[in-house]
Amino acid sequence: MDIYREFIHLARLAASGRQGDIRTLLRRAARSADKERPDFQDQLKSLLQRLPESEGQQPYRRVPPDSKTSPQPEMDSLLLEDSAAVAEPTWGPNLKGELDEIIAERAKIDDLRAAGVHPTRSVLFVGPPGVGKTMAARWLAKNTNRKLYTVDLASIMSSYLGRSGANLQKILSAAANDTNVLFIDEFDSVAKRRGDESDIGESKRLVNVLLQSLDNWPESGLLLGATNHPELLDRAIWRRFDRVLEFPMPTRDEIVMFTSSKLKLSGFKPSNEMSGIIAVGLEGRSFADVENWLNEAIRSSIVRDTPLDTILAKKVACLFTSQPVSERAKVATTLTMLGISQRAAASLLDLSRDTIRKYAKTGRE
Ligand SMILES: Nc1ncnc2c1ncn2[C@@H]1O[C@H](COP(=O)(O)OP(=O)(O)O)[C@@H](O)[C@H]1O
Ligand SMILES: [Mg+2]
Repeated sequence: MDIYREFIHLARLAASGRQGDIRTLLRRAARSADKERPDFQDQLKSLLQRLPESEGQQPYRRVPPDSKTSPQPEMDSLLLEDSAAVAEPTWGPNLKGELDEIIAERAKIDDLRAAGVHPTRSVLFVGPPGVGKTMAARWLAKNTNRKLYTVDLASIMSSYLGRSGANLQKILSAAANDTNVLFIDEFDSVAKRRGDESDIGESKRLVNVLLQSLDNWPESGLLLGATNHPELLDRAIWRRFDRVLEFPMPTRDEIVMFTSSKLKLSGFKPSNEMSGIIAVGLEGRSFADVENWLNEAIRSSIVRDTPLDTILAKKVACLFTSQPVSERAKVATTLTMLGISQRAAASLLDLSRDTIRKYAKTGRE
């Protein structure tokens, strides 16, 4: 059981007052928590006994409430996002080229049609967390002047047992529109659901609904999916997307660019060397991680009334302290190649300049 996901889901149901669904979710949690935490199960069970059976005295609410008497709650899972304020993300030339092309296609729809091809209607974003998939969705919506809607697939799938296929269908039909971009994050959650043997029929329906939408999406609309777990996705789904875009982890140069522009936006004037050093230290991390790391430094600098450079230098040094001398010496060599003085590199990495010289020499041999 993914406790975080369940918790968010529970909070969402509670916020929209869906007692029946809350009951169902708690019951399911009580069942699947069995082996791991018997105390958890007992508490849930006694809670369930005390919860008033407010909605029709039935264990599951299998159909959504009458749409005439209440707004359609499944539409709570379709959210309008504000994409106006998104800044241009940092991305490599390949990704930028592809995204620019998708934007440019919108201006040439008639020419494309005349040539017998349709513009890109669906794109799958594949990549680890924190590298700009959601940002790219906002960026595309902003630059094609379309409204951005997002669907919370995970919540659709676990509400209204037996109705998720129909609900997804409703939501997708409502969002399938020339003037919209629809972004479906965690596209793989459908695939994950397949592993849940209790509900094979329902997950097949969900996959079919998605496949149909992919096939029939309006020409100048845009359906975007994102996944951190491409290996979980069905080949049939992959194939239906017009394009698949890989979002890689940032390169060192991209971290340099990102760091400089982020610090400048916050009113600091970082030296090129500092961004370079930071990028060496944070290589292999996502943009979101780099951003958090920088935010921590900015906060400390303000709260402690200490120059940002001092804070950054300390934080960078921390990244390397646990590394053996040989590793630190390698980093020092990289730093000197980036134009940092040997003295500065030595003090940052707690090495003697002799050590750095020695390693620089053997490294070259
Ligand atoms: N390519 C990028 N350029 C600039 N900032 C980025 C980039 N990728 C991620 N970020 C930062 O990390 C945050 C999370 O990124 P997000 O787009 O939600 O990642 P993902 O959807 O891939 O998990 C963003 O709000 C932004 O601040
Ligand atoms: Mg995201």
